[in-house]
Amino acid sequence: MSPVRNIAEADRMAPSPFEIVEGIRRLKQEKNAVILAHYYQTPEIQELADFVGDSLALAQAADSTDANVILFAGVHFMAETAKILNPQRTVLLPDLDAGCSLADSAPPEKFQAFIAAHPDHLVVSYINCSAEVKAMSDIICTSSNAVRVVNSIPLDRPIIFAPDKHLGAYVQRVTGRELLLWDGECEVHVEISIDKLKLLMGKYPDAKLIAHPECTPEILAEANHVGSTSSLLAFVQGDSARTFIVATEAGILHKMRAAVPDKILIPAPAHANNTCACSECPYMKLNTIEKIHAALLHGSPEIVMDEPVRERAEIALRRMMQLG
Ligand code: 13P
Ligand code: SF4
Repeated sequence: MSPVRNIAEADRMAPSPFEIVEGIRRLKQEKNAVILAHYYQTPEIQELADFVGDSLALAQAADSTDANVILFAGVHFMAETAKILNPQRTVLLPDLDAGCSLADSAPPEKFQAFIAAHPDHLVVSYINCSAEVKAMSDIICTSSNAVRVVNSIPLDRPIIFAPDKHLGAYVQRVTGRELLLWDGECEVHVEISIDKLKLLMGKYPDAKLIAHPECTPEILAEANHVGSTSSLLAFVQGDSARTFIVATEAGILHKMRAAVPDKILIPAPAHANNTCACSECPYMKLNTIEKIHAALLHGSPEIVMDEPVRERAEIALRRMMQLG
């Protein structure tokens, strides 16, 4: 039998996307599972999820669920956050390689040495970090509440802000507080090209630029609005402009296009000539409907964590959740 015929037969036998999604729906019921997805997931994953949101909303959704199983369609630190809040529930991540360059920029041993060198500082960590780093922190923040979290700290307390130096610099500008910044960044947001962006702004002079605070300071300085993924989505809905240039990962465009079908949404261009001329997070995009199906079927890959680490990380995380 020829290999071509074998491939054709295998294709005929492989379940269709429709069958996979049906299978996921069945498994969700059988296992009492909930699917939480970030805005950077593919449209098909966002469509099948029970809840889609930014990091803060996803943490809140994980905290309030009564499902036995949480399947996290996002990256590792997000699924870890769900586990920190739900030690008694099973938390699944469809692909354990779905990491985050920003979280990886703060290895726990180096971070430990950094905070030990500044014992008088309070440690504010962006949620995009490992459970170990959360456990070393005093309070966690996300892009939607970083300003509020820093403003909640007494003025006489020096602050370490980690791991994103661009979000940190932005919070520093907005709050007027001096922050000791860890030198980390997101490989996806720093890939957005200010030169190409300026060309685009010249071509669309009426467009408003909206940007995620993980972008570089040059981009944030040009932006009409800076905010988390949820905040960017709310801005295009509430603002009267017809055209927006969107400086964040392209996955957000799915919900934006559905929310404002009559508006023009242009993804900010990346430096490299990648296929979609936009910014895509390679870690977020590791999740697929096939892997979600397999994870629900086998109850794996599962997030497991050292209990003492989880307990300490939960204290820092709950301080943030109380602030909202
Ligand atoms: P949001 O919390 O704004 O959704 O950001 C998550 C993230 O990883 C941005 O790169
Ligand atoms: Fe991490 Fe950047 Fe991907 Fe967000 S977009 S998950 S910060 S690598």
